[in-house]
Amino acid sequence: MPSLTFVSPQGVRREITVSGNSSAMNAARLNGIGGIEAECGGALSCGTCHVYVDEADIEKLPPPSDEEGDMLDLVAAPRKATSRLCCQIELSDEIDSLILHIPETQF
Ligand code: FES
Repeated sequence: MPSLTFVSPQGVRREITVSGNSSAMNAARLNGIGGIEAECGGALSCGTCHVYVDEADIEKLPPPSDEEGDMLDLVAAPRKATSRLCCQIELSDEIDSLILHIPETQF
């Protein structure tokens, strides 16, 4: 099962284990990870589930869709090359682990 490590803006790390067939956003919500607001519930219309994928892990993920890319232009915290919307990160057994850094703000 994949493990996700969320790193808060203050550097606090929290690791959770997730069964496949879930988005990283859902896993964060189910486990009470702070700083992932996900106001639209994964409908790709809010941009408040922004994360920075750790540089060591970015190649594990397929590139963002055009729709995700457009929404990333609207996120509150600075967009970086590793920015993703975690509602669009689908976990699978092929992904052993991911480190996701939570931005300072989602609004
Ligand atoms: S939860 Fe709204 S865009 Fe991801």
